[in-house]
Amino acid sequence: MKLWSGMLTGDLDKLAEEFNDSIKIDKRLVFVDIKASIGHVKMLGAKNIISYEESSLIIKGLENIYKKLKEKSLVVDESYEDIHTYVEAKLIEEIGPVAKKMHTARSRNDQVTTDFRLYIREECENIKNDLIYLIKSLLDLAQKNTDTIMPGYTHLQAAQPVSFAHHLCAYQMMILRDLSRIQDYKKRLNQLPLGACALAGTTYDIDRNMVKDELGFDSIMENSIDAVSDRDYVIELSSIISIIAIHLSRLAEELIIWSSQPYSFIRISDKYSTGSSIMPQKKNPDMAELIRAKSARLIGNTNQAFIMMKALALSYSKDMQEDKESLFDSIDTIKMCLKIMAGQIESLEVNKENMFKACKKGYLNATDVADYLVNKGVNFRDAHHISARLVKYASLKALSLDELDLEIYKNESDLFEEDIYKKIELKTCVNKRKSLGGPNKTEVLRQINIVKEKIKEYI
Ligand code: ARG
Repeated sequence: MKLWSGMLTGDLDKLAEEFNDSIKIDKRLVFVDIKASIGHVKMLGAKNIISYEESSLIIKGLENIYKKLKEKSLVVDESYEDIHTYVEAKLIEEIGPVAKKMHTARSRNDQVTTDFRLYIREECENIKNDLIYLIKSLLDLAQKNTDTIMPGYTHLQAAQPVSFAHHLCAYQMMILRDLSRIQDYKKRLNQLPLGACALAGTTYDIDRNMVKDELGFDSIMENSIDAVSDRDYVIELSSIISIIAIHLSRLAEELIIWSSQPYSFIRISDKYSTGSSIMPQKKNPDMAELIRAKSARLIGNTNQAFIMMKALALSYSKDMQEDKESLFDSIDTIKMCLKIMAGQIESLEVNKENMFKACKKGYLNATDVADYLVNKGVNFRDAHHISARLVKYASLKALSLDELDLEIYKNESDLFEEDIYKKIELKTCVNKRKSLGGPNKTEVLRQINIVKEKIKEYI
């Protein structure tokens, strides 16, 4: 029998019933649903809305069901409409008709959003831990590569030399922002909707603050209509996850580029590669490619949440049942992506020599040739033209800038002296960029230390 069958005569159409049921999706809320009910029923007993004995009996029954589900001697039966219906039905089986008092001063509207917030609260901790794990793997790799010179790119064209550690620090900063977004989000998430009931509160003398403390919420939602209507927390977490996914997709793309033959900067471990069914020589970066692609689905999930809520009249509408499937998917997927990315980073082999060679080929010290002249009084615009002519000449001869004779330099400007070669050594080019945030080794070590200090705030 349906919880709501009072007014209706006849059964729901079979297909409509299947369409309406959400238990296949919301069954994962079972443990938080039981926890939330225990908090609610404790309050009902304390406020004498039901007797103390009835409240104790219901709580015991709920604890038994919780235990059986944990031990797997009981599994959620998917023939029920949703998880709330299932738990109530099990409780009636467990302790008899007194179980029917559990739903006093409550509606599924405030119940479902309370459960969802509790569930998300736990998952935020898991996502946070996965982010920390990834940052640590990037930190380790960066620390091993503070002297590894690599081309820095703009437009995917070799631009200026940086260190691999400097580049990896950029990703650490992105993930630090992700961590702070999750942290900040929790303030808005951890507000209690329960007690709003269907939308208009209740005639019973409930104590919402007691339930808040029982369930570890920071505050109560102050307006009952808002409490049951709000799904900002779904859209917000989905958006945060999409941003994380974008960060991962950029790193994945770089791993794919760096591991391709023309680059050969890195080697992705066999643990994260696959072969080809036809080409024996192939080693494909499938995991990185999947991470790159998963971001599309996660952004799609965020769009779905936005569009579902757009223009929806207050308060609860069944539309909002559709809030869970996509967010569950986003949570599961991002946790998997984060773990797999961390594994790839941990097991990455770096080909320092190839990174260095690519810097030589890419004329990455051309800016430094111009800077040399600027330091001798030439204006930057003219210095830029002179350096460009030298690059053009060198590329015609298939030489790097440091392979050109001094005479060639002098043909362009007699300000060039023998020290030009020292000044445009790639290592010098990296280390003289000492400006805050730049690639100079001491500066990168400072950035690494900042990351180390900041992650302590989240552990
Ligand atoms: N399964 C529903 C959901 O996820 C529970 C709330 C049902 N409320 C209602 N008024 N039908 O949204």
